Amino acid sequence: MSIRDIFESMDYGPAPESAGDALTWIVDQGSRFGHFIGGVFTDPGETFETRNPATGEVLAEVTQAAQADVDAAVAAARAAQPGWEALGGPGRARYLYALARLVQKHARLFAVLETLDGGKPVREARDIDVPLVARHFSYHAGCAQLMETQLPGQRALGVCGQIVPWNFPLLMLAWKVAPALATGNTVVLKPAEWTSLTALLFADICRQAGLPEGVVNIVTGDGAVGEMIVGAPVDKIAFTGSTEVGRRIRAATAGTGKALTLELGGKSPYIVFEDADLDSAVEGLVDAIWFNGGQVCCAGSRLLVQEGVAEAFHDKLKTRMAKLRVGDPLDKCIDMGAIVDPVQRDRIAALVEGCEGEVHRAGPVPEGCFYPPTLITGLSAASPLMQEEIFGPVLVSTTFRTPSEAVQLANGTRYGLAASVWSENINTALDVAPKLAAGVVWVNGANMFDAAAPFGGVRESGFGREGGLDGLRAYTRDEGAAPRLEAVEPFGGEAAEPEPVDRTAKLYIGGRQARPDGGYARLVHDPEGRLIGQVPIANRKDLRNAVEAARGAAGWAGATAHNRAQVLFYIGENLSARAGEFAEAIDRMTGGSDGAREVAASVDRLFSAAAWADKFEGRVAPVPMRGAALAMREPCGVIGALCPDEAPLLGLVSVMAPAIAMGNRVVLVASEPFPLAATDFYQVLETSDVPGGVVNILTGAHEELAPVLGAHFDVEAVWSFSSSDVSGAVERAAAESLKRTWVNHGRGRDWFGPAGEGRAFLEAATEVKTVWIPYGA
Ligand code: NAI
Repeated sequence: MSIRDIFESMDYGPAPESAGDALTWIVDQGSRFGHFIGGVFTDPGETFETRNPATGEVLAEVTQAAQADVDAAVAAARAAQPGWEALGGPGRARYLYALARLVQKHARLFAVLETLDGGKPVREARDIDVPLVARHFSYHAGCAQLMETQLPGQRALGVCGQIVPWNFPLLMLAWKVAPALATGNTVVLKPAEWTSLTALLFADICRQAGLPEGVVNIVTGDGAVGEMIVGAPVDKIAFTGSTEVGRRIRAATAGTGKALTLELGGKSPYIVFEDADLDSAVEGLVDAIWFNGGQVCCAGSRLLVQEGVAEAFHDKLKTRMAKLRVGDPLDKCIDMGAIVDPVQRDRIAALVEGCEGEVHRAGPVPEGCFYPPTLITGLSAASPLMQEEIFGPVLVSTTFRTPSEAVQLANGTRYGLAASVWSENINTALDVAPKLAAGVVWVNGANMFDAAAPFGGVRESGFGREGGLDGLRAYTRDEGAAPRLEAVEPFGGEAAEPEPVDRTAKLYIGGRQARPDGGYARLVHDPEGRLIGQVPIANRKDLRNAVEAARGAAGWAGATAHNRAQVLFYIGENLSARAGEFAEAIDRMTGGSDGAREVAASVDRLFSAAAWADKFEGRVAPVPMRGAALAMREPCGVIGALCPDEAPLLGLVSVMAPAIAMGNRVVLVASEPFPLAATDFYQVLETSDVPGGVVNILTGAHEELAPVLGAHFDVEAVWSFSSSDVSGAVERAAAESLKRTWVNHGRGRDWFGPAGEGRAFLEAATEVKTVWIPYGA
């Protein structure tokens, strides 16, 4: 191209980045890679090829791990873990900082290798992926340094199995490895089979940093290797990838006691109001859907544009699309590179093929593994392309009239990962942001990330957060081993007819006492075998009614924290007024003598929850850009909980109080052997201004109700503190809806002590929503 041509066309000339150093590194390693286990590279075993998707050329061969490799990696991680944790936070911080520095030192090599292996534009790898990787290690060096003050009483989980996808191979590795190492865990990580090379280069960097052997282990291979890691004796699985595999991992880990975080798919809305700066919104959209060719879990893949500006906006968008340059990812002047693999390109093409909308493709694109930036209009909200993740450079678009319609459309998928809101009106933007079902909301922006800002989803986008203090906590547990929990059996008795029975209890649903659907009741005896009451046996229909009542009480989430605190204080006061009566009933039912202490502790707990209602705050993450990330705490929604048996009243109150303090509605299943404290408690609730449906209480068999709660699609989270063995059943049932669970895995807690309240409960009762807002000069 001559200078004259350039002046006339104003086109960018090519600016290719050299692949030389990266290819040399591959050759220096022998072009065939083994795993990285216990600080050394193993000999290559059965290998498969990894290719450059832009050219189809084979870059290297990578080993498909066998079970013995995974076992060896887990054993190395296990052996290294105590020493690594014992180094202490400041000791670990030195290594994390060294890793950050080494990533910076080899930034160009990492960026080019990432581009060669995955096809993303080198400009993105160089300016976004790699700097964020270094930022992650350096932020987490700080977290390690401050661990004792920031996370008092917390310890490492142990060995973490980590499985990452191909769209951000090195960045996802950093998101997983850095917090795990900072908190004293060791890891076994598996990169995706299409993009293993930067993880292997990272292993090389670990060696250069002198990281103790076995702290980081990397095994390569496909989904079968992922399954081996999931099944291995590790303490946690952290997964990023498809919702379908996430669901399988949830089912496979159910009942094992392994901690789990899942960062899954999305279909994130990109909402443009008519008062938005349309040109900025178009540029933002380029970042939202064409960054990394749309192969981004939080891609703004669903454009919702207000009717009045829809035509103008689409026109501007098409003009901009025509200028997007698709081509050689090593060329620094291109906007979109290759799709990661022909399989993925064909998957995208098949999804778009035959859709009923109007398809606008920007072209041309080179031959091979490329797909053009695409806009599809005219789809109905229910159309599969509006609902399903395409994971490619394909934007679907629809219009809305009012903000409430925008919210309804935005929330109309099964996902809840991210959302963008574009408006120049601060009222509109900040009114809509809290209404969106999403873990991350960008106001007038898209695809912004930082190590200090929690990231993660709700609904079928998974659970758990990565980044910030919340991400760090997901790699820790409370110090000290929780005691094993023995199943508590109800007392039996002879009496067939109630002797001096006060009343036959009912269920408590929607603020009223309700008869059970099945009409069955269970007799409750004292330790001497005397009949002391009858409670209904709730069935799945009763449970569904309770959930419906809870859903109907959604206004509770909108009540001010001050109001919620008032209601909790009032419950505490009313319970206190009847302390003697409750204490007597508890002693009679359990045969103990701790009733008075239990009631006093319950009153105290209600007061504590009331106190926390307006004090459990979010955080403002100081992100290194012109903005702030507000990590807001939102209620989960409806929480179902199986209450403890060790302390029938205190247990129920300890579960209920923090949940409703944070704005949730609850469906509580009372202690099965000792249900009468709960049924007596109805009257306290009835006299305490608790709006109907905020607290619902059932009595019945935990084993029967646990899986129903776990599977219910209108329950956002399930907790179990039951002494019956139901943890596995809850987790298994929750796999379909991917709801959050918090279960005891057969471990008890001291409900009278600090373990019975505080941060753990408040965190479990809230979701972090990270709202990025423009802020600062
Ligand atoms: P995938 O979920 O199968 O792969 C992600 C990782 O999980 C890879 O390392 C893979 O080897 C591993 N894996 C696969 N099956 C496994 C199993 N049963 N147990 C444990 N690990 C397993 O994603 P895939 O097939 O590469 O892509 C399919 C679709 O998933 C994409 O089109 C996209 O829609 C979605 N996806 C979403 C991602 C996200 O970041 N949310 C990332 C990758 C894919």
